[in-house]
Amino acid sequence: MAALPPLAELTGIAKHFGEGGSRVDALRGVDLTLHPGEVVGLLGPSGSGKSTLLNIIGCVVEPSSGRMVLDGAVVYDGKWSGGDLRRLRLDKIGFIFQFHNLLPFLNSRDNVAVVLELAGAGREAACRRADELLDYLEVGNRARALPAKLSGGEAQRVAIARALANRPRLILADEPTAALDSERAAIVMDLMRKVAVEQSATVLVVTHDEKIFDRFDRILRVRDGRLAS
Ligand SMILES: Nc1ncnc2c1ncn2[C@@H]1O[C@H](COP(=O)(O)OP(=O)(O)OP(=O)(O)O)[C@@H](O)[C@H]1O
Ligand SMILES: [Mg+2]
Repeated sequence: MAALPPLAELTGIAKHFGEGGSRVDALRGVDLTLHPGEVVGLLGPSGSGKSTLLNIIGCVVEPSSGRMVLDGAVVYDGKWSGGDLRRLRLDKIGFIFQFHNLLPFLNSRDNVAVVLELAGAGREAACRRADELLDYLEVGNRARALPAKLSGGEAQRVAIARALANRPRLILADEPTAALDSERAAIVMDLMRKVAVEQSATVLVVTHDEKIFDRFDRILRVRDGRLAS
């Protein structure tokens, strides 16, 4: 079987915040290639640049320099390439955070349906797919509950359903299991694996969580804004 092309290729990606005396070099030249089907761990001390790297790959934070190709398209080459970044994020990228970030005034189903509708789905199709995803994550029985009424593990699974809604090829998770017990953390990681395989996606997971280290195909270590091998 021919290997699928990489989903992300970063070359010399650097990022600093601020200027002069208050300048912080968060990333100092990162080269990284992510392949379909991989579940990759991103480890490193606090402040080493993990979230910055995730946010750059997710096109939420603009690099200061370097080159980035996502799913075959140049998105950054010294500047954003001028494509529709919002569309790219909606179509290709699923973000999962440590704390769920659900919209507090929408129930579980609508939290998922809203990103489908933003991507162009009709209301009915969006609700159907939202229900399917919630069932798949075994929180279908909580479809009509508001986030405040969900347990931590339930809320995280709804947030994962939302991140997966548009079938992204790049799933970026920042400490997704930190707020979960080991059983729930294992369920989340099983799911990440399943999505990577079934959708030929890449899952990149920032974590300090030793109980999931053995779940990764490879582990990248960030230190002081650089990837160590
Ligand atoms: N928006 C910002 N403005 C200024 N400095 C920032 C900003 N975001 C991050 N930084 C700085 O960049 C460096 C890298 O931060 P980053 O959040 O990427 O670290 P991290 O590895 O995710 O840390 P943690 O494990 O604590 O989440 C830190 O020195 C941080 O203070
Ligand atoms: Mg972080």
